[in-house]
Amino acid sequence: MAFNFHFRNLLGQLLLITLGASADLPTLYEYYTEGGINSGLSVDQPYFTLNGKNISIYSGAIHYFRVPPELWQDRLRKLRVTGVNTVETYIAWNIHEPQDGVFDFGDGGTELEAWADLPGFLRLAQQEDLFVVIRPGPYICGEWEFGGLPSWLLRNEGIQVRTRDPTFMSYVERYFGQLMPILTELQFTKGGPIIMVQVENEFGYSANIDLEYLQQLYDLYKSSGIVELLVSNDGTNAGQSGTLPGLLFQTADFGSDIQTCFETLEQMQPNKPVMDMEFYTGWLDHWTEEQHHTRDPNDFRDTYEQILAYPGSVNFYMFHGGTNWGFMNGANNGPGDNSNFQPVTTSYDYDAPLTEAGDYTTKYEAIRELMKQYNTIETYTPDPPEVKERRVYDSLDLNGQLRFEDILRQVPDKIDSDVPLSMEMLPINQNSGQSYGYIVYHQEGVNIPANSVLTITGHVRDTVMVLVNNVLLSNALTSRDRLDTFGYWRIENGNITLTTEALNGATLDLIVENWGRVGFGNFYYQYKGLTDSNSVFLNDEELSSWTIYPLEFKKSWNQNLGDWGSVEESQSGPALYKATLTIDDDDITDTFIDMRGWVRGFVIVNGIVLGRYASGLGPQQALYLPGPWLQKGDNEIIVFEHSLWPGSQIVFSKDPIYSS
Ligand SMILES: *[C@@H]1O[C@H](CO)[C@@H](O)[C@H](O)[C@H]1NC(C)=O
Ligand SMILES: *[C@@H]1O[C@H](CO)[C@@H](O)[C@H](O)[C@H]1NC(C)=O
Repeated sequence: MAFNFHFRNLLGQLLLITLGASADLPTLYEYYTEGGINSGLSVDQPYFTLNGKNISIYSGAIHYFRVPPELWQDRLRKLRVTGVNTVETYIAWNIHEPQDGVFDFGDGGTELEAWADLPGFLRLAQQEDLFVVIRPGPYICGEWEFGGLPSWLLRNEGIQVRTRDPTFMSYVERYFGQLMPILTELQFTKGGPIIMVQVENEFGYSANIDLEYLQQLYDLYKSSGIVELLVSNDGTNAGQSGTLPGLLFQTADFGSDIQTCFETLEQMQPNKPVMDMEFYTGWLDHWTEEQHHTRDPNDFRDTYEQILAYPGSVNFYMFHGGTNWGFMNGANNGPGDNSNFQPVTTSYDYDAPLTEAGDYTTKYEAIRELMKQYNTIETYTPDPPEVKERRVYDSLDLNGQLRFEDILRQVPDKIDSDVPLSMEMLPINQNSGQSYGYIVYHQEGVNIPANSVLTITGHVRDTVMVLVNNVLLSNALTSRDRLDTFGYWRIENGNITLTTEALNGATLDLIVENWGRVGFGNFYYQYKGLTDSNSVFLNDEELSSWTIYPLEFKKSWNQNLGDWGSVEESQSGPALYKATLTIDDDDITDTFIDMRGWVRGFVIVNGIVLGRYASGLGPQQALYLPGPWLQKGDNEIIVFEHSLWPGSQIVFSKDPIYSS
């Protein structure tokens, strides 16, 4: 006790010495709200002012939906430590209205309720002495599933999202009717943290630039009571094609050519301040890419210094990338069909200054140093929170297996249909369809002549496994080149030869995985599963009369799976495998799960879908498992593996693993 007391005392003195004047400095809110709040952010002069005082916006992007809520405070504190004064986040509509008309802002009891506590995140940001730049879309891109839009919108045939289409706008209005009262109350001039609000996102890059839609959105923001500065953002090469000059203050997205981009902004908006809304600290990864994207820390530092010296305002995209939990990653695509589909990995580490697991980096230190050097407004900043060492838990043997037919038996909904229906069109989830996961098209009593050919017309969305009598016949995704074979999105009108011998009364299962909807660019066709552009033929005969099983892997279902059998050595085909992580002590920390011993699938921990793995595709090879999702005692880890039983264990890793 005595030692402890002295030690703490000493530590206290050391802190005082190192912090020096910092402890006496005003907080950001003390500095900017002293004497009362009269005005928000102003761009009426060539620099920003907030409440009449000069301000440069130094912001870092942290998306609340990509960080475990238990760690929001840690990540926000680590942002403020650097001297940055603002956090930026998108708002993901599909988190807050997961079903048509069902809203959740933290207490709605929906599947992603924990992440839905947006007001909690915003209040925490203020508590951590940060201002907020908010980007509610409704389209956000963000490389997030469907660019943030809810998939049930697609049940309206022909809906034109991101346009003035009255059907689309009526859903936007209803959603904003729930969202905006939360945001208006948290505006800076009402005593809250929000200083800037972005309307839409990179609208100048939309394939269909409908300025009437942008005007309607602007009017909606205004009539909803948003009084803080409304902005747009685009790449500078989009010029003013995606903004409303005079109504929206224009910001831009760029990671290099700082001088040129700021000058372009100044030409478009003379005598106004300039802001880089997305200064790319790194880049995202897609499955099939050979290497994890990185940005050289020195290049990052030099470029950041150019922004500060200009002087410009900035938002680091990303400051802390986080994770595309569950099935929530977005994807890219080329025009036309599904052949250039490219899903974003589960990790959204982004090579950002604060890593996916919350580690400090060279870039982090660079921000901190440069802020000390360039920020002329001195306010109090906290000490860096300690990073708890991650643990490599002992490898686990599997203690249960659930064969595919035993999984199907536990699916609560099954739908009979003559034609294969897409996920979105299934009459489930209060007529909102299926949003995520897998969908199974099942037939029984099929007579299959020897050497039969099964053909699926069009492109599947996104991969299909073919099982006959519960045996997997299609190619496992062991390597990238397999994507050019039957079963994968690149193939149009693909076919597969079934068994060499004739089978009577066989069962046939087509298991289709939704690998994430497109978030950027070509938004033309986002249905998943087998859609109305697909027909299934056995030899020359079209198959009909399907029983369709939505395999959603919702938390409560995952936690109540029964009928686990013992692990078979030579299983081929999709199955669930289970292991138990028993933690006897209180040292419960973050870890990574090393998936290199497995082929293709996803991992569930205590009911929560962590994310996908695809060891043959790269670059991501390990999944981040946050400590707060583990508990003392037993923790259930489940793997859904598509292809072969790899004879693997559950293996942990201290650090992320990338293929090289
Ligand atoms: C605010 O910034 C402008 C531009 O740098 C400068 O001219 C002005 O003196 C500053 N005002 C205060 C009060 O520091
Ligand atoms: C199956 O696909 C291959 C490759 O695309 C094609 O050459 C062949 O004609 C197809 N067979 C049938 C029966 O459709």
